[in-house]
Amino acid sequence: MMVMPHTLPVLALFALLFVLSNNGAEASHKIYSRYQNLSVENVNQVHRTGYHFQPPRHWINDPNAPMYYKGLYHLFYQYNPKGAVWGNIVWAHSVSKDLINWESLEPAIYPSKWFDYYGCWSGSATVLPNGEPVILYTGIVDKNNSQIQNYAVPANLSDPYLREWVKPDDNPIVNPDANVNGSAFRDPTTAWWADGHWRILIGSRRKQRGVAYLYRSKDFKKWVKAKHPLHSVQGTGMWECPDFFPVSLSGKNGLDPSVMGQNVKHVLKVSLDMTRYEYYTMGTYNKKKDKYFPDEGLVDGWAGLRLDYGNFYASKTFFDPSTNRRVLWGWANESDDPQKDKDKGWAGIQLIPRKVWLDPSGKQLLQWPVAELEKLRGHNVQLRNQKLNQGNHVEVKVITAAQADVDVTFSFPSLDKAEPFDPKWAKLDALDVCDQKGSKDPGGLGPFGLLTLASKNLEEFTPVFFRVFKAAADKHKVLLCSDARSSSLGKGLYKPSFAGFVDVDLTGKKLSLRSLIDHSVVESFGVGGRIAISSRVYPTIAVSEKAHLYVFNNGSETITVENLNAWSMNTPVMNVPIKS
Ligand code: FRU
Repeated sequence: MMVMPHTLPVLALFALLFVLSNNGAEASHKIYSRYQNLSVENVNQVHRTGYHFQPPRHWINDPNAPMYYKGLYHLFYQYNPKGAVWGNIVWAHSVSKDLINWESLEPAIYPSKWFDYYGCWSGSATVLPNGEPVILYTGIVDKNNSQIQNYAVPANLSDPYLREWVKPDDNPIVNPDANVNGSAFRDPTTAWWADGHWRILIGSRRKQRGVAYLYRSKDFKKWVKAKHPLHSVQGTGMWECPDFFPVSLSGKNGLDPSVMGQNVKHVLKVSLDMTRYEYYTMGTYNKKKDKYFPDEGLVDGWAGLRLDYGNFYASKTFFDPSTNRRVLWGWANESDDPQKDKDKGWAGIQLIPRKVWLDPSGKQLLQWPVAELEKLRGHNVQLRNQKLNQGNHVEVKVITAAQADVDVTFSFPSLDKAEPFDPKWAKLDALDVCDQKGSKDPGGLGPFGLLTLASKNLEEFTPVFFRVFKAAADKHKVLLCSDARSSSLGKGLYKPSFAGFVDVDLTGKKLSLRSLIDHSVVESFGVGGRIAISSRVYPTIAVSEKAHLYVFNNGSETITVENLNAWSMNTPVMNVPIKS
């Protein structure tokens, strides 16, 4: 279950109780021993996604070691080969020529040696300057979840599928020292090279201080802990899956992890085990001091900038040298309970890979689904200059609304009708504002947007919408919401409303939105990728051909759908075993 930030204190207490009740061992995924080994015969297809990455059955979590090698993209991921809840974790392995069609191989890394006998947890790939990839991953060595870092190399470098991986006997390469919490020490990053040394980060915590430990090595085998962590923040708890990478100050191209210098900024992203949300900052990497300094004015904590304000965790980027871009993968768990996961026989998807780059303002990242996704676009429907008065909803007909890609630009004549931003909300999170105002509560400028995965009579729908508020004289606050509260008539589901404020120039009096709709996921990008929100939803009526798509406006200001393109999305090859 995802957790709301405002429940943090309660959560910290629960976390503590959990750790205590678990013999002090720290595992961030809930353990359902009853279900871990219940292999699945029949997979329920109803909510399976059509074009998002998922294996045919069972549990998945974090994307691991994405990389490009000899013409193929490789994606590994945390996988339970024996059941639909977390456990028995191995590194499943898939390959693709285009990031969209995937073929599956046998698991690449699985418990087999004393140094990973109790689990092969998350990690990353580094492609060395001679072109050879190395994987670093976390090995679990006992029942208390004691964690160390290992490496694995391909058995056969001439095999572009990199089918077989070897874990040399000089593993582990990093052991926690006496000052490190050995059951909270995991998820090594991709390495970068500076001044004669490779460097990696390992996520950890010291009491409630989140920490990214820095290790250096000359030969990729002997790693020495730096005197200071690269960065740490009090009160943020365990940092899982850190990601540290350079972004260019000009243009959209991605950079190799070792690029530094004048024209570069660095990004540090961490996944917060306490909230199961992530945040990132941008800043300066001082390679002399080996320290990272977030830019002034950025929030360095759980209220910081997010790659996605919804169901999105354990994300990781990689540099794609074939197209010179940086690509981001994120995992979206189910919002459903484990009994339901067991019943349906699968849990978890990877969201559509996104290109990431720095906004010209230098104040945030921008993201957009990789262009290859557009190859799946089939039948196209358009709306032009469609006026929406208060209370209107207009259907976008003749597409497969349960499996679609929608790109829309809304315009409005003025900002005058924007509702005042209640000063009481200043202390609230965007999602609290979304909770209070929702899509049904009439407003001024908004709510307007899309009703996705909607049943014909609107018993069920997931609205993705804007609400514009007037904060001060000429200052507006733009809220984007993806609200699952009306998404399903199903009982006992967690149906969160997710939201974020988006920093946007409204002088053109336009707001754009793209939503990738895929049966049980709605992945939305506001204002050209300035904000992303992903929701998992489980409609009971609005499934398959009974799903509909509408544009709507519940604000008093008339909204014009200037231009809407919706496409039925075809289904790619999704994890079909590769023919050898
Ligand atoms: C994040 C995470 C990682 C860990 C892995 C275990 O979801 O908890 O910290 O390596 O999952 O599957």
